[in-house]
Amino acid sequence: MEHKLFYPNKELSANAAVKNMNEYNKLQNFAKNDYEGFWDSFAKDKITWKKPYTKGLDDSNMPFAKWFEGGELNVSEQCIDRHLEKNGEKTAILFEGELGDIQKITYNELSRRVNKTANLLKNRYGITKGDRVVIYMPMIPEAAYMMLACARIGAIHSIVFGGFSSDAIRDRIMNAKAKLVITADGAYRKGKPYMLKPAVDEALAKGGCDSIEKVLIVKRNNQEMTLVDGRDEIYNDLIDSMSEDNEAEVMQSEDPLFLLYTSGSTGKPKGVQHNTAGYILWAQMTMEWVFDIKPADIYWCTADVGWITGHTYIVYGPLAAGATTVMYEGIPLFPDAGRWWKMIQDHKITQFYTAPTAIRMLHKIGDDEPKKYDLSSLRILGTVGEPINPEAWDWYHNKIGGGTCPIVDTWWQTETGGHMISPLPGATPIQAGCATLPIPGIMAEVIDEDGTPTPVGEKGLLCITRPWPSMIRGVWGDPERFKKSYFGDCKKDGKPVYFSGDGAMVDEKGYITITGRTDDVMNVSGHRIGSAEVEASIGNADFVAESAVISQPHDVKGESLTAFVILNLHDHGAYEDMAKEINKIIRTEVGAFSMCDRFIFVPGLPKTRSGKIMRRILRLIATDEEITQDISTLEDPSVVKAIIEATKEQS
Ligand code: WTA
Repeated sequence: MEHKLFYPNKELSANAAVKNMNEYNKLQNFAKNDYEGFWDSFAKDKITWKKPYTKGLDDSNMPFAKWFEGGELNVSEQCIDRHLEKNGEKTAILFEGELGDIQKITYNELSRRVNKTANLLKNRYGITKGDRVVIYMPMIPEAAYMMLACARIGAIHSIVFGGFSSDAIRDRIMNAKAKLVITADGAYRKGKPYMLKPAVDEALAKGGCDSIEKVLIVKRNNQEMTLVDGRDEIYNDLIDSMSEDNEAEVMQSEDPLFLLYTSGSTGKPKGVQHNTAGYILWAQMTMEWVFDIKPADIYWCTADVGWITGHTYIVYGPLAAGATTVMYEGIPLFPDAGRWWKMIQDHKITQFYTAPTAIRMLHKIGDDEPKKYDLSSLRILGTVGEPINPEAWDWYHNKIGGGTCPIVDTWWQTETGGHMISPLPGATPIQAGCATLPIPGIMAEVIDEDGTPTPVGEKGLLCITRPWPSMIRGVWGDPERFKKSYFGDCKKDGKPVYFSGDGAMVDEKGYITITGRTDDVMNVSGHRIGSAEVEASIGNADFVAESAVISQPHDVKGESLTAFVILNLHDHGAYEDMAKEINKIIRTEVGAFSMCDRFIFVPGLPKTRSGKIMRRILRLIATDEEITQDISTLEDPSVVKAIIEATKEQS
């Protein structure tokens, strides 16, 4: 199929880091011919080393790659201190609260706040290099101070997204044996105060969190809360008396920077570990290459710091690049659906980065809202987290970007640390709904299990065949799981390579289109959800014998969850009531964003003789599609008919 291509405009190209496809190809060839040399050419200058590294890449013990060994640095200095001399008075974080309160935090101010916070963590709580700190915070500047303060003293932060429940907090505390939890009373959402601290109380009350010594609480909405004597302390009361001077811990290139738990296809979420030098290098370089960040820019990523996008593209990347990064506390619909567009106008945003699900939602509301505002400051638009459909792309391109801003459709994952496949706005001809080409230095390939390239136009497995600097370094506490989850499926030249879990297709131009997960990981509103986690909590309803959760297409959320549930009683209540009950359990055990939109109560599930649930069959039944695949290999083929009947009856 022929696709329309959108070529970069001349002005943008002239000033971009990568100006045309010739330059792109040169860079990519450089990397292919001299991989270490390629990375060395950037790493030595882009990072302010305390001590230079002696080796670029050590891949002698794959999948445990090591980058820039011998090097010493500190990420907080890379993000703050090195900008102070020339840009101390530049705004680092531009915060807007949901009620309209604005804070402009300069790099000088950020430095003072982070140093004070670092001193508090170190001196009052005895947090030292290698300790784990769980952060459960709303979208307020203090969340960034906490992250950077951890980086400064060498503590490993593990942020838990504010939408997660107390059980999720507890699991993460226990898995990482964290010493301290940092939270806030709450924040504002839909114009009203909401609370976070009670979820931390609940998590700790459930037991098993003996590693936690203290809870540090930031005051944001000033609502009443109960404090546990000897455990809970208020940040705002303690911070003023701390010194502004703090000497950053000397970190080795491969010292851990943070953990971020993410869903896989089986079991509990995995603690994805990112280390110091490689991560920050790529966070910074992709800001320059993909977002074309320039000194005068006002850059806004609408993600939450609880997800990888918030880590890399609200905090670490923009600050390492010395940019002004916008942080917004609330929802896009408060007080009305023009909020984001108004913010773009008010702050003269130049780069805007968001998720397709948000675009679809705002598109549905109509053109009237964006029309009210001057969006002409925008230069580059971006999307992340899921594929973008053509209608949403057109609207974003024309109504938000005025038909002139390139849209960078960035494909990457928690595990990749930063962008892997994306157009470069000054070079790559853009095609709607397509992530286009690997970023220079990234060896992304679509292959089969044995490494044979998948023919043009066919679906294959999206792999990254050489280690890259911001690559996941491990699954916390479980090296075997790390190997098996990411390096167990695909090989190239007989050697295991990183498999993303995504399928993809390559066209004649070499452009890569993501076709979605090949495993049981689901994506609702850009949130990554594992079927195993949701099924485990459904199983905790006492009337449930077994369940299987799948996702089906949804016009705003991208995907929505459908649960097929087997009951263990004959005498049960109304389906509707049971559905509500199950969602209540999911909400408390995982989080509201993992609740199911649809429940189908069935007599059995389609299982293979080895007991594996064939979710593919359930997906077809849910969307009322014909099952063409052979079902005779199922343990009980007749179950399919029964499920189809139950589905029809209940819809
Ligand atoms: C999906 C988010 C299509 C993909 C940064 C991946 C995408 C998962 C895109 C990672 C994109 C991310 N087009 N699909 N541009 N970007 N995905 O770890 O399935 O929360 O594996 O990281 O989101 O989700 P995660």
